[in-house]
Amino acid sequence: MNNNPHKKFIGSLPQKELLKLYSKHVNGPKVRMFKGFGLGVIPGERDGIRLKTLEGLKPGTPPLELLNCRSSGGVFNLGHRNPKIIQRLKDALDGGLDLGDHLLLSEWRALLGKKLADLMPGDITKTTFGVSGGEAIDTAIKFSRAYTKRKGCISAVGGYHGHTGYALLTGDPDFKDPFLWNFPEFKQIPYGDIDAMRKAVTEDIACVILETIPASGGVLIAPEGYYAEVREICDDKGVMMINDEVQAGLGRTGVFWAIYGGLYPNEKVVPDFIVCGKGMSSGVYPLSTCSYKPFIEKAVYKEDPFIHISTTGGSDLGCAIAFEMLEIQSDPKFLDHVKEMGILFGKGLEEIAEDLSDLIKEARGRGLMWGLEFHNEDDSQLGMLSIIKEGVLLNYCANKKDTHIIMPPLIVKKEEIEEILTRIRLGILNLKKIK
Ligand SMILES: Cc1ncc(COP(=O)(O)O)c(C=O)c1O
Repeated sequence: MNNNPHKKFIGSLPQKELLKLYSKHVNGPKVRMFKGFGLGVIPGERDGIRLKTLEGLKPGTPPLELLNCRSSGGVFNLGHRNPKIIQRLKDALDGGLDLGDHLLLSEWRALLGKKLADLMPGDITKTTFGVSGGEAIDTAIKFSRAYTKRKGCISAVGGYHGHTGYALLTGDPDFKDPFLWNFPEFKQIPYGDIDAMRKAVTEDIACVILETIPASGGVLIAPEGYYAEVREICDDKGVMMINDEVQAGLGRTGVFWAIYGGLYPNEKVVPDFIVCGKGMSSGVYPLSTCSYKPFIEKAVYKEDPFIHISTTGGSDLGCAIAFEMLEIQSDPKFLDHVKEMGILFGKGLEEIAEDLSDLIKEARGRGLMWGLEFHNEDDSQLGMLSIIKEGVLLNYCANKKDTHIIMPPLIVKKEEIEEILTRIRLGILNLKKIK
């Protein structure tokens, strides 16, 4: 870990005081909830797959040291403060870049657009940029409506696509009802149920939006052939197919796109849109992308090329950094590493699930994206706390609380995988002791 002698950015005040400030000026209930869990700690130094809290659970006690198996949903695919990415950011700043001006044309949007087109499946060759995942999802739905001239949208129960306008409408009631945010044209159906999909996709539907591997919904694995059939249904009814690869994309499954061979090696589906966020930032500079087939462009931009603009989306700096990330993560050697680590990790988690089957129902996943389903929510919540106390940071899925989502950075090494597995096992064994 970095030495931090100056405390200019990390640990500027004692943790206790920062918690008070957070509570008073940012979000009081969040602080109370974390404290209630016994986790009233603030992340401090971070490096690679590890992060330290500012202090321990009691004021003045040593920091907790955690192996980050959240990766913030893929933001830290390359670990915290990846040296190549940090260097790229410094070089880009020294080399003359800033945000750029969204009304003008941009060298870096052009270069990143081409890079993405080269990596995308099929003829997905156009990209519109944003800052957050939700913004890019909104873009995909907005463009689908413009193209189809229809309003309907089908999404999956338990799915999560963001906190913004259209994205929020695709999600579960818990996230939108308090904001009185509900349009009848937005409908949710059970994930992986092709008959439900067939019934829901009618001629007033603009788009179907699915996470290729639903993350908040419990790291669910659709039956083989599901996405190929969704594609057929969409084609049949003239409906746009949007795949949210915010968590499952960019190599997370050991294949660059989950929808194109990452979920099932022989199932390579080309949707109309692929949306990326989180990992696009490389953990240092926010960027999201909504990539789509060329025929959609005309419906959106032909009459007015300024009709959809985002001041900070697709900034020159963000694009230059994402370009470097794509170079690293699309390298076949990098993807082979993810595959190899994924096999090791999956095998280890399956062994844990088998050995501790009185508590755990199933381990499922692809590459380095895994879910560990407990028999009930209480054990899952207590298990999460127990595993964190053993030094592995993970969380239960927001929309399927009996399941932990486990996503180490893609740069994780063999010995670190072994350490993570040992600690997860210990955490669950400790839960058994207190039960
Ligand atoms: C699968 C998926 N899509 C979209 C989003 C929205 O991304 P953001 O929070 O950057 O708006 C998230 C965020 O957690 C996500 O997990």
